[in-house]
Amino acid sequence: MKEVKCINRRLRIMKMKNNMSRFLLTYSSVTGNTRQVADAIHQILPEDTTFCPVSEAPPPEDFDLVMIGFWTYRAGPDPAAARYMETVRNRNVAFFGTLAAYPDSDHARRVIAKAETLLSGNRILDFFLCQGRLAPERLAKRLGGEQADERHPMTEARRLRLLEAEKHPDARDLALARERFQMILEHYRREANS
Ligand SMILES: Cc1cc2nc3c(=O)[nH]c(=O)nc-3n(C[C@H](O)[C@H](O)[C@H](O)COP(=O)(O)O)c2cc1C
Repeated sequence: MKEVKCINRRLRIMKMKNNMSRFLLTYSSVTGNTRQVADAIHQILPEDTTFCPVSEAPPPEDFDLVMIGFWTYRAGPDPAAARYMETVRNRNVAFFGTLAAYPDSDHARRVIAKAETLLSGNRILDFFLCQGRLAPERLAKRLGGEQADERHPMTEARRLRLLEAEKHPDARDLALARERFQMILEHYRREANS
């Protein structure tokens, strides 16, 4: 609670120093799913938003609102996104991610918890997750049972989940991502102007 008050105070001071809000939208994506979601979110953000892959992202201190996208690796944000997330402190933040699992699953909740831990010390406004198709070679291995083990047996439920992931991100996911970030933007602006 004390930490949150402290962050809020610092954010108010930042706002007083510079009335123009600076936005960063950055993402990590290997096969393009998270990039697609980032592109959709980019459409609803102001024109002067800095938009780039996380490998090229400027220091987070340069921004008032930092939005970070990741693909899921071993039940958490991928290493490149995670490294950047660890450098973000005392900012307004929002994150988004893609994963093979269902976004309302326990697995997804673990991913969210890891992202929140990486972003601790910030004010997290909200987040968005959706499924994302697996790289074809990885999917083939999974469906072929090559990567099945005791922890990840190839059950019928798992097979169906992977096949569903193949359809994502779809138009609905992208619309939901835009909608969620529109709300995040409105939330940010309301607070910045209060
Ligand atoms: C090496 C590797 C590890 C992955 N680990 C997970 C995981 O733990 N949980 C999950 O739900 N999806 C996992 N995935 C699936 C990806 O997160 C998913 O396909 C994502 O949409 C890929 O995003 P991109 O196209 O932006 O690279 C993994 C994929 C790869 C290649």
